[in-house]
Amino acid sequence: MVRKPTPADKFSFGLWTVGWNAQDQFGSASRPWLDPVESVHRLAELGASHVTFHDDDVVPFGSSEADRERILDRFRGALAETGITVEMVTTNTFSHPIFKDGAFTSNDRRVRRYGLRKVVRNVDLAASLGADTFVMWGGREGAEYDSAKDLNAAHDRYAEGIDTVAAYIKEKGYGLRIAIEPKPNEPRGDILLPTVGHALALIAKLEHGDIVGLNPETGHEQMAGLNYTSGIAQALWADKLFHIDLNGQRSIKYDQDLVFGHGDLFSAFATVDLIENGFPSGGPRYDGPRHFDYKPSRTEDFTGVWDSAAANMSTYLLLKERAQAFRADPEVQAALEESGVLELSQPTLAPGETLADLLADTSAYEELDVDAVAARGFGFVRLNQLALEHAIGAR
Ligand code: GCO
Ligand code: MN
Ligand code: MN
Repeated sequence: MVRKPTPADKFSFGLWTVGWNAQDQFGSASRPWLDPVESVHRLAELGASHVTFHDDDVVPFGSSEADRERILDRFRGALAETGITVEMVTTNTFSHPIFKDGAFTSNDRRVRRYGLRKVVRNVDLAASLGADTFVMWGGREGAEYDSAKDLNAAHDRYAEGIDTVAAYIKEKGYGLRIAIEPKPNEPRGDILLPTVGHALALIAKLEHGDIVGLNPETGHEQMAGLNYTSGIAQALWADKLFHIDLNGQRSIKYDQDLVFGHGDLFSAFATVDLIENGFPSGGPRYDGPRHFDYKPSRTEDFTGVWDSAAANMSTYLLLKERAQAFRADPEVQAALEESGVLELSQPTLAPGETLADLLADTSAYEELDVDAVAARGFGFVRLNQLALEHAIGAR
């Protein structure tokens, strides 16, 4: 590892990432599933500070109450031995066939009631482990066919499910916030809440939306052809960036879940720049864990698994250094100034100025030399080249 993380870096991994047995649509497992206790120890040695998990990653689906308690005790032991903490918990409402048409939005009401019970049970576990965030990735909430779903009712049921869980969190006084994870497709043909924007619009209609925000994943926005950094920027602006799933994706195709930076590297630089340095003129910041949700490729043995885990953190730290150098460069500051990036934070109307004042301001319209203003070059290409030169370490 070129850069070794420290606890201050707040790196976090899903146990389903390193633990994945690499079974895919076309082939059987190329590795055994890892014991979560071993993953906790290995991740701690590599410098991670936190882990996250789905209920079923730690306690196999269908375990008896006694087995559940025994497994959780052993897991708590590994946390205590390593100092690793659980910052986020999520629920598997996608693997078992009962969830084949979704959990909160299944057409079958029995499934919706069962799904809600599974989620609420896991909220109790999340709270008992001291997690801050409860992620909801509705991977099966969707359809393959337009005729298969009453989409009006589906949004009602989705909102009902989230609001019911949020109300329960408040009633119990848990220190948890819900983070919705958007994804456009896979495993369903179309998934509800496909992007950051769609999820924000749903949250705005919730009764308990104050404790509901987002967990955007790099590759999921990119699968929709969108810019991840723009997505988390809007979530930040809305005070809804509760958590992040960092990984890599190379263009619009199946969900690759590559190592962070192994997809669109220059976009990863912009992501780290925003997370570490904030917006150019200030504003809301993300202070939560740097959470990786990737899959060690099916080609890898266990050496490759741990190399890839380390690669996520190392790449993040390298990009952080590059992003700090970018912001500290006086040439960059001058270029930001020249291109108007810093001017954008000035309100369009002056303090106290009304629209009537603007309408009366002939210099803003009647007398404005529009051709002269239009002739301004913004210098964005030069600024971008400066970013690129910093990103690749040429400056
Ligand atoms: C994916 C998703 C999932 C979710 C996780 C949390 O790759 O489609 O990222 O990994 O993040 O299941 O519920
Ligand atoms: Mn993914
Ligand atoms: Mn994810």
